Amino acid sequence: MRHLMSPLDFSVEELEKLFILANEIEKDPDRFKEKCKGKKLATCFYEPSTRTRLSFEAAMINLGGSVIGFSDANSSSAAKGESVSDTIRVISCFADICAMRHPKEGAPMVAASKSSIPVINAGDGGHQHPTQTLTDLLTIRSLRGNIKNFTIGLCGDLKFGRTVHSLINALMRYPGIKFIFISPPELKVPDYITSALVDKGIEYKEVISLEEVMSELDFLYMTRVQRERFFNEEDYVRLKDFYILNKEKMALAKDDMLVLHPLPRVNEISVDVDDDPRAAYFKQVKYGVYVRMALILTLLELV
Ligand code: NCD
Repeated sequence: MRHLMSPLDFSVEELEKLFILANEIEKDPDRFKEKCKGKKLATCFYEPSTRTRLSFEAAMINLGGSVIGFSDANSSSAAKGESVSDTIRVISCFADICAMRHPKEGAPMVAASKSSIPVINAGDGGHQHPTQTLTDLLTIRSLRGNIKNFTIGLCGDLKFGRTVHSLINALMRYPGIKFIFISPPELKVPDYITSALVDKGIEYKEVISLEEVMSELDFLYMTRVQRERFFNEEDYVRLKDFYILNKEKMALAKDDMLVLHPLPRVNEISVDVDDDPRAAYFKQVKYGVYVRMALILTLLELV
């Protein structure tokens, strides 16, 4: 039995198989509509979510399965003090697979260690968000044709943004990727990530100005300042509008650069960018459903 805690739990070859399956699902969804008949997905969300939870639920429903779960820790027995280890033992009796989001780093991993069904980390604190990374990689692969030889700028809250940490981890394994980290000094990417890049001899630079590097980018991955992970509101208010991508800044970019964002967006991308053909963040949401369908089928060994 396999779980998914980090994008590195799958080899590059296994990811390739997953993306091919996701593209097959995209082309002919009808072929997959009964694959999970009789199977149940439990979504255990101890932290707010719209996209990830509903994307998992839509994925299971598209496969003919059903969904149970909770979307608020206060409505679960966690409010009575139950541990995630006990909760997952109970959920294992009800469901065939579980997607778990938790504010504490490592909680889904603790659950996986006690689980008799596959557990998917749907975001653990500021740590990892592997299914968002699968979504990002499938989007890149589908819109560009491959995952190699490009420059990606990651902009915004690189300190607390778990999607950023997972994506950098995953992209390190592909050839010819250059990273440009764009953030205020307070929200720089953690040292353990830059050390890993140095160890692997991967090119990266850290800058404060988005305008300065815009013309170099093939992808721009914008992120929200993670208010819920700040220790004080003052710092959040000072940093929240540090970057706002707008039409003027888009004019500095390559004609085929693509803008990605895991969403939800707050102010960091002005709505006037939405009509730009290079804005790919709503397409990304669709790829998220296909890749979660492919993941559920793979973890349930139905392919
Ligand atoms: C992200 C998350 O939860 O980390 N959202 C998502 O799942 N698409 C990004 C965010 O909340 O900023």
